[in-house]
Amino acid sequence: MADLPDTLPAGPLRLERWRPDRIDEVLDAVRASLPDLQQWMPWAQTMPTREAQLLALTVGEAAFDAGTDFNYLYREHEMGELVGGGGLHRRIGPNAIEIGYWVRSDRHGRGYATAAAGALTDAAFTHLADVERVEIHMDRANLASARIPEKLGFRHLRSDPKPTTALGHTGTDLIWAQRRDEWARRSG
Ligand SMILES: CC(C)(COP(=O)(O)OP(=O)(O)OC[C@H]1O[C@@H](n2cnc3c(N)ncnc32)[C@H](O)[C@@H]1OP(=O)(O)O)[C@@H](O)C(=O)NCCC(=O)NCCS
Repeated sequence: MADLPDTLPAGPLRLERWRPDRIDEVLDAVRASLPDLQQWMPWAQTMPTREAQLLALTVGEAAFDAGTDFNYLYREHEMGELVGGGGLHRRIGPNAIEIGYWVRSDRHGRGYATAAAGALTDAAFTHLADVERVEIHMDRANLASARIPEKLGFRHLRSDPKPTTALGHTGTDLIWAQRRDEWARRSG
């Protein structure tokens, strides 16, 4: 059994783990959001081909079971539509995990990214006993993304140089963090 549940509740959204049979919905949401995604997401510099996206979903499904990356799709409760994605990634060293996210362009500004990142933070501290710190990173020019950790009570730890891999990147990332004890105090 995987370390994290297949689905997570997140306010107006339901988070569902990546499955290859969601390919058409994912491609639709990415296509509808490409100009925004190209600003900040290295994987969206060109529209992913069906083959490449299918491979990503398949690899992601295995990574979820292996406990290295927990990728979810965001689905609206209201209409059942797929409106973005995000996940928890073990790529920042021991006892820590990083959240990444995107939301379909025509659903921006409804609090979806904040609700989902809050649910992912909760899931990390609830289900992954070794995780003491959750981080969110974004380019310093990505002002909408920087609001998400701020609204969730994360602290700005530092700014790091970062290679530019998307159109809007400036070469500096903001690193935000939330500790297990801080989150428990906030949630309790
Ligand atoms: C960043 C992103 C995920 C935010 O999704 P969202 O669902 O619109 O986010 P929320 O509604 O939860 O919150 C967005 C906040 O940013 C604010 N915001 C939006 N555009 C802004 C801008 N240009 N400058 C400053 N704040 C901005 C909103 O007002 C809101 O803050 P508020 O609640 O205080 O008013 C979405 O814009 C996106 O998918 N962008 C492209 C991909 C991306 O950047 N991913 C993150 C990479 S680190």
